[in-house]
Amino acid sequence: MSIGIDKIGFATAKYRLDMADLAVARDTDPNKYSLGLMLDSLSIAPITEDIVTLGAAAAEQILTKEDKATIDMVIVATETSIDQSKAAAVFIHGLLGIQPFARSFEIKEACYSATAALNYAKLHVTAQAASKVLVIASDIAKYGIKTSGEPTQGAGAVAMLVTNQPRILTFNDDNVAQTRDVMDFWRPNYSTTPFVQGIFSTKQYLDCLKTTWAEYQKRYQGKLEDFAAFCFHIPYPKLARKGLNKLLDKSLSQEKTGQIKANFEASISYSRQIGNIYTGSLYLGLLSLLEKSQSLKAGDKIGFFSYGSGAVSEIFSGQLVAGFEQMLNPDQQASLEKRQRLSVEDYEKLFFEEAQLDDQGNAEFENYATHSFALERIEHHQRLYKRN
Ligand code: CAA
Repeated sequence: MSIGIDKIGFATAKYRLDMADLAVARDTDPNKYSLGLMLDSLSIAPITEDIVTLGAAAAEQILTKEDKATIDMVIVATETSIDQSKAAAVFIHGLLGIQPFARSFEIKEACYSATAALNYAKLHVTAQAASKVLVIASDIAKYGIKTSGEPTQGAGAVAMLVTNQPRILTFNDDNVAQTRDVMDFWRPNYSTTPFVQGIFSTKQYLDCLKTTWAEYQKRYQGKLEDFAAFCFHIPYPKLARKGLNKLLDKSLSQEKTGQIKANFEASISYSRQIGNIYTGSLYLGLLSLLEKSQSLKAGDKIGFFSYGSGAVSEIFSGQLVAGFEQMLNPDQQASLEKRQRLSVEDYEKLFFEEAQLDDQGNAEFENYATHSFALERIEHHQRLYKRN
């Protein structure tokens, strides 16, 4: 049986903040953002766009009626949940009209959880070959105005359909995971933004990569030479590049080094324009690689490094399937370019707006631009969504 990603969809907010504008407002050298972090712009979500609307929009792009009648599991991976009890997957299941006899739930472990969701989906399809599992990684990365993480914010969701005989990528059975209990980035229930020990978090990311890679090489005799590309969790592209540099070694041929470096640039293209989307960012890297690489071909082996603060990391690989190009969205880049540019003043209002609930728990919102779904209002503390 070969199990993997059959379809992949993506949605991001309809607004963007340009790093050059943020640099002026924060009295910072623009090169710090464009070269130091390797970011050009960030997606900015208004209050009416949340992990449910983004996740539903990403999935809506790829699902047919037949898929909706067959999917028997919906997993939403997120660290920016909108409810402490009800799973975003249940809202999305309803918005998409997926057949009722499905299991829907939400999972969390910082930016790692989408990888756990894919593993769970793989086990489910292994047990029931006709099943289709919808895995959605959806997050809004919000650190706060003038914080160290502010220039790395973002918003977006990646939806993946996991099936038997997939048409994009088959998973190899070579996963190596690592858990270590550290406080590099966390968000207590009472806080709308995370606490982060920035430099410490980057050290954890790189050390987890180094040690998990060493274990992967030991267990699977894995060599970078066997890979056509390596995708990384991308909190900001510069850190992923440092990760790549840790893997590259002098024994690699010039040609292989060139191929891996070129494919790395392809994999960070969307993140440069969108920012961090937390648990989806590794898979946004995969999407970017698939849509921007000039050299990928069927059978190529792709490596993945997943990292979630706290921390859990995992390295695994997959193999590209013949015809994968036909499963991609040729309009992705064009739709990113259509995002509305915000002034820094408008970004500060729009991104950090909080619902003003009355005594009955009702709130109305302005009519902001959103993807195919929107949070219409809150009524008696219930979030009500609509299709645009
Ligand atoms: N021109 C060019 N480059 C410049 C520059 C200039 N004028 N000024 C600074 N730089 C470079 C610096 O040299 C540095 O590059 P190197 O890392 O190669 O040395 C880079 O810009 C960043 O500058 P600083 O080291 O001064 O760091 P900072 O104040 O910008 O903070 C950060 C960086 C701590 C990572 C901050 O962005 C942050 O807190 N981010 C949120 C946490 C995060 O993303 N952590 C990543 C690991 S955790 C994780 O992966 C989970 C997750 O998604 C959050």
